[in-house]
Amino acid sequence: VSEPVVVISGGGTGIGRATARLLALSGSQVLILGRRPETLDRAVQEIEAETRPGAITSMAADVSNPDAVTAVAEHVAATYGTIDAIVNNAGGAGGRPGTSLADIAQSWRDAYEQNVLTAVLLTTALAPYLRRPGGRIVLVSSMSSRSGGAGGPYGSAKAALNGWVLALTAQYAREGITANVVAPGYIPGTELSPTGMPQEILDRIVSRIAAGRVGSADEVAEVIRFLVSPEASWVTSQVIELQGGLLPPNM
Ligand SMILES: NC(=O)c1ccc[n+]([C@@H]2O[C@H](COP(=O)([O-])OP(=O)(O)OC[C@H]3O[C@@H](n4cnc5c(N)ncnc54)[C@H](OP(=O)(O)O)[C@@H]3O)[C@@H](O)[C@H]2O)c1
Repeated sequence: VSEPVVVISGGGTGIGRATARLLALSGSQVLILGRRPETLDRAVQEIEAETRPGAITSMAADVSNPDAVTAVAEHVAATYGTIDAIVNNAGGAGGRPGTSLADIAQSWRDAYEQNVLTAVLLTTALAPYLRRPGGRIVLVSSMSSRSGGAGGPYGSAKAALNGWVLALTAQYAREGITANVVAPGYIPGTELSPTGMPQEILDRIVSRIAAGRVGSADEVAEVIRFLVSPEASWVTSQVIELQGGLLPPNM
């Protein structure tokens, strides 16, 4: 049996890197994508040193760019032919919205380009190569899509993924392909959420989490590992919140 092939956007840092590492350690062949070649190279070297030669490779690509995604699809077709999973993890918080309508328009466009278009283009381009049956699509959303935190454009763009997964399911479920969303709460230690948040804000976040702590990129990666596994064949169209339990408002 050949190794499962998993493509992860934004696999050079943070949650994507943790997922790439876990899947490579679990026996998958992982292709990570990102815009910065040196960041990808470093992740490949470090993860390969922990696993085996060829367990992980990278390709530099801006997955919000249709031409770059076409090149990724050509690479995937030539290198693997068939792939097992697409993990759409690339995303970003975008800039702070200004007050002029032009600035506001730009911040909403940026948020949708970074968080929605990235997933739509990569999934659309790579779906023809997904194993049938058995293919897996994962979208990385955020608890901001449900709580409204982190500002309008980012949370709304992530919410678009929660809606799009229903259309993906309708499109692919009969071919034995699942599509699911993970919606993490605050995960420190990534480029998007570096450690070192002011203690007062961190305390406020943790005070609302039933588990009494924040989550980790490895804990998100474990859920993605399950969702892309053959065992997750009856899980589709779900938005899985990874947030340690929310306390009721009166507690
Ligand atoms: N950390 C949290 O608290 C948290 C919570 C909920 C959801 N999330 C989501 O989790 C995902 C991963 O974020 P993270 O926290 O791990 O932050 P991160 O370290 O900033 O990871 C984002 C990754 O995506 C890549 N990327 C961004 N835009 C891209 C593009 N257009 N094309 C290709 N690659 C792109 C970045 O690399 P390059 O810059 O080199 O392209 C980077 O490696 C994001 O979708 C984020 O919204 C994070």
